[in-house]
Amino acid sequence: MMKNIKGIEDLDVHNEKVLLRVDFNVPLDPATGDVIDPGRMIKSLPTIELLLKKGASIIIISHLGRPKNTKDLNLSLFKVTEKLKELLPKVNIQFCPFDQMSKMSSISEGLKPGEIIVLDNIRFFPEETSEKEQERKKFAQKLSTMGDIFVNDAFGACHREHASVYELASFLPSCAGLLLQKEVNILNRALTSPERPFTAIIGGSKVSSKIEVIDQLIKRVDHIIIGGAMAYTFLKSRGLRVGNSKVENDILSQASQIIDKAQFNECGFYLPEDHVISMDFSENGKIKPCGLEIPEGWMGMDIGQKTIKKYEKIIGDSKTILWNGPMGVFEMDAFSEGTMSIAKSVSKVKGTTIVGGGDSMLALKKSGLENKITHISTGGGATLEFLEGKQLPGLKALIVEE
Ligand code: 3PG
Repeated sequence: MMKNIKGIEDLDVHNEKVLLRVDFNVPLDPATGDVIDPGRMIKSLPTIELLLKKGASIIIISHLGRPKNTKDLNLSLFKVTEKLKELLPKVNIQFCPFDQMSKMSSISEGLKPGEIIVLDNIRFFPEETSEKEQERKKFAQKLSTMGDIFVNDAFGACHREHASVYELASFLPSCAGLLLQKEVNILNRALTSPERPFTAIIGGSKVSSKIEVIDQLIKRVDHIIIGGAMAYTFLKSRGLRVGNSKVENDILSQASQIIDKAQFNECGFYLPEDHVISMDFSENGKIKPCGLEIPEGWMGMDIGQKTIKKYEKIIGDSKTILWNGPMGVFEMDAFSEGTMSIAKSVSKVKGTTIVGGGDSMLALKKSGLENKITHISTGGGATLEFLEGKQLPGLKALIVEE
């Protein structure tokens, strides 16, 4: 698979206890605590099923949210375990609550091949995310006493230098799960040998959170399409009027340099040419279409019809698409047309389509077109950092010297 990283197929897991790190950081219903969208869990099922088929028992490790302390029971993995039982009804799955996790080495005693134990939220232990390497190492060593082999399938957490993602790999024979392999292989292919034209669609509210990835993509893609509130920062950086739209004034010059860099690298860089504007950040006030410049008192909420048509054409002519971030405030129906039209165009592309980031995934769900996308990445920050060309700690930890 990946150079110098072993996959599950390279290790004999028969009768072994596998410590499986997954990213079951899934959205929960705030009222009931039930899992609302098990998407990330479903994507790790092939790894779990393969391990069980090969005769392993599994100790599942995951984080959920960012708990402040161990009493944050809203972030317990109990409900996630209940969902896993629904997804794997024939498997014996137990849950290990936090208060039974102090003596780690005994947790997996008696676990038989084909069985699973899900540990409670690993971030309930402050050592998991400690900034002190020694603390994390000591904790990882304790975790390692539960099993014989470490499998990392948590692509979404690979950008974190956390004990169960990074240090644990140094204490056990380690390899990558099927989801992690798939994520890395698809993103790698898009970066190194994409079918062209290759178009990146970048949206969302902040340029600052995506400036490094845009900077990297300029050298690799043929077109970059910009939407969402970040477009107003770019437009303002070129002296255009954006009214009361959300703008990051502190990075205007960086935004302008990005546009220059794209031109220098002959990468098409497209900004909205018209908009849907509103007087308030709401769909109940005055709303109207408007041209390139936005008058004072109004804010841009979605891309306009002319922009939609232009973007649809570029997307339709592309053979590889990478999409991260919505085109407007798609959560409000009055401003969802831009994002929904883009989702539709992406779904029709005859080539490779990759979608990442929580908002784009939600938008795809809303459009009902999820099944028409080649790969929906489970990573948010991890996908972006991978595309920025950074070495993710979770992947680095799995590299073996040949
Ligand atoms: C994610 O949701 O992107 C991953 O689960 C990582 O979560 P984190 O940003 O809290 O580390």
